Amino acid sequence: MPEKIIILDFGSQYTQLIARRVRELNVYCEIHPFHHLPEFDSSVKGVILSGSPYSVRQEDAPQVDFVVLQERYPILGVCYGAQYIAQKLGGEVKASSTREYGRANLSFVEEQNPLFKGISSNSQVWMSHADTIAEVPDNFEIISSTDSVKVAAYHIKNTNTFGIQFHPEVTHSTDGKQLLENFLVDICNCSQDWTPDAFIETTINSLVAQLGDDKVVLGLSGGVDSSVAAVLLHQAIGKNLHCIFVDNGLLRKGEYEQVLDSYKHMGLNVRGVNASDRFLSQLAGIKDPELKRKAIGRVFIEIFDDAAHEVKDVKWLGQGTIYPDVIESVSVNGPSATIKSHHNVGGLPDFMKLEVVEPLNTLFKDEVRRVGKALGIDPAILGRHPFPGPGLAIRILDDITPEKVAILQEADAIYIDNLKSSGWYDKVWQAGAIFLPVQSVGVMGDERTYEHVICLRAVGSVDGMTADWSHLPYDLLAKISNEIINNVKGINRVVYDISSKPPATIEWE
Ligand code: XMP
Repeated sequence: MPEKIIILDFGSQYTQLIARRVRELNVYCEIHPFHHLPEFDSSVKGVILSGSPYSVRQEDAPQVDFVVLQERYPILGVCYGAQYIAQKLGGEVKASSTREYGRANLSFVEEQNPLFKGISSNSQVWMSHADTIAEVPDNFEIISSTDSVKVAAYHIKNTNTFGIQFHPEVTHSTDGKQLLENFLVDICNCSQDWTPDAFIETTINSLVAQLGDDKVVLGLSGGVDSSVAAVLLHQAIGKNLHCIFVDNGLLRKGEYEQVLDSYKHMGLNVRGVNASDRFLSQLAGIKDPELKRKAIGRVFIEIFDDAAHEVKDVKWLGQGTIYPDVIESVSVNGPSATIKSHHNVGGLPDFMKLEVVEPLNTLFKDEVRRVGKALGIDPAILGRHPFPGPGLAIRILDDITPEKVAILQEADAIYIDNLKSSGWYDKVWQAGAIFLPVQSVGVMGDERTYEHVICLRAVGSVDGMTADWSHLPYDLLAKISNEIINNVKGINRVVYDISSKPPATIEWE
């Protein structure tokens, strides 16, 4: 059983970041909500208690029986986690009277303590808390301070329990990674052997054991996750994996052929289903974005179900679900409001009567890319921008017609080709053209024109949750605008979107 670290989540915005840092140190970890403890078996090497938007002084503050854990495992409390341990064991936590947000420097470090090995005083750390530990119990040793925070870090003497009031997981804490490594390696004795190759080997072995001679169907989207999931499954069960790639008529120009071709080159057993007409006829006349998404989701399920049933005796449905979709992150403020319903291939209904196999459901996006690279998948597939499931339907802010799709495909292809040839494609997180439902006056030659507007969107982001517009060079924008207006009939104006998310979103619909 591979060794792991358990992160108990009290709802901090940084919990996922802690997990990513731990994994960057080649140690496997899992996030579990504080009120839903996992099984603590011999594979667990240590426990991290996360931060929280709660104050330990609140009556309804999250609780966990850490004393039981403390007897068995090394523990690192971060921020709320540290304050919680200190308070429970008889220390005092109170509202902070000084500023404990943002940048600070350690003024004292107990360099002999294993947690601070290789970290000197003056190291920059990132604070983010309203409460502070005012007093620690007698058996606590203060192992680090800043000018304004006496207990920046503590160690409970003769135990492997530590607490820190700063955030080692954010990059502003310059030695944060070192501190985490000290905890993982020197204190928890983790062997740092969780690498993409190790992941591939254990995953393939467990897929072989789980699936035996069973058949699996998997819907490919052309994106990174489904492609990596398919290659892993293919390596495990070969021809028993049946992939389906549906052309919904809303893909980018030439994408169906290119993607199908590259899948075939990868040796995948893939069937292309050209269903453009079926999607476009169901979308005719629909302007409302949510209705578009629903129609596309419905038709996709029908088509996928038909294609899956053509595979005789299929038992499993393969999916490229990744870790952020499955983490039971604690919702301290209730479920977040649905801003847009995202149709993902994942949402297939129960009536298909298939069991689900999700080989990537423990990985973050960047880890999926690393695994894909180790599997030798074409960098062009791994480096692809995210593309929404409903495709160009939600980039035409109007009802969908084959003519509008063709116009948008042409304009988008010019845009993306230019991003690639100028080297900007890999610098932006996502880009695409949008067809606006307005017409404006122009003049071409001696003729007055009255045609549509294309908006260009390019954003930088880490995970799509927040994003900023990319500062593309004016010269590049000028070239793209010229090419679109001169070559795409029906467009006489090009604009660039300079909105960030929030308050805007990446897609317009
Ligand atoms: P927003 O527009 O919400 O988009 O800022 C965030 C990310 O999600 C993608 N997106 C979708 N993906 N189905 C999908 O599979 C959808 O309906 C959908 N809507 C938005 C968007 O492209 C961006 O990457």
